[in-house]
Amino acid sequence: MENGAGNGAAAAVPAWNFAPNDALLGLTALSVRGVLGRVKAGMAEGSGAGARPVVPLGHGDPSAFPCFRTAPEAVDAVAGALRSGEHNSYAACVGLEPARRSISQYLSRDLPYELSADDVYLTSGCAQAIEVVCSALARHGANILLPRPGYLFHEARAVFNGMETRYFDLVPERGWEVDLDGLQALADGNTVAMVIVNPGNPCGNVYTYEHLGKASAWFMNHA
Ligand SMILES: Cc1ncc(COP(=O)(O)O)c(C=O)c1O
Repeated sequence: MENGAGNGAAAAVPAWNFAPNDALLGLTALSVRGVLGRVKAGMAEGSGAGARPVVPLGHGDPSAFPCFRTAPEAVDAVAGALRSGEHNSYAACVGLEPARRSISQYLSRDLPYELSADDVYLTSGCAQAIEVVCSALARHGANILLPRPGYLFHEARAVFNGMETRYFDLVPERGWEVDLDGLQALADGNTVAMVIVNPGNPCGNVYTYEHLGKASAWFMNHA
């Protein structure tokens, strides 16, 4: 017999050994969506007894709020690409070259230098972007500088990748600019990245070119 169990007895099948990743257990309790779900569960919406109108101040969902409709040109381009049947294959994980070229040309309009397609790495949203960055940079002992206030997922991802997280302040009186003076004490030889979110989430600020230049110059000189 091929399986070697020639005496008629069933061969012992090793048990499957499924178990959750310990590092993830309990983390979802701290997610933004988890907190939002708990708050919403406690709200009395609708027309029943105790119902109150709810003003969703933190909600930019284009489906729920039609003022954020996608431009017709973008909708047509996506629909046309689907109808053509020419783009159903696997794409490079950094994104399609024509898309990256187009983005680099668009961004170069406001820059004193020219970006190339190779300067652009396309991801499915910010979550994948921070995952890629943390996975690539999380060498042993690495630390990463994160803005405060910031987006919780960035901290979660950095910690998940074994990085130490350090925080620099955003100053509300100066349009949530980076507190450049406060940065001095943070970086050392193990600092591998500084996260700047622009346009900002959760503060909604947009940095000037000059401020971004100062922040990146600081990072280049100190990390
Ligand atoms: C700064 C930042 N990081 C992460 C996320 C979440 O990732 P995603 O864009 O994949 O939804 C968001 C979403 O708004 C964000 O603004």
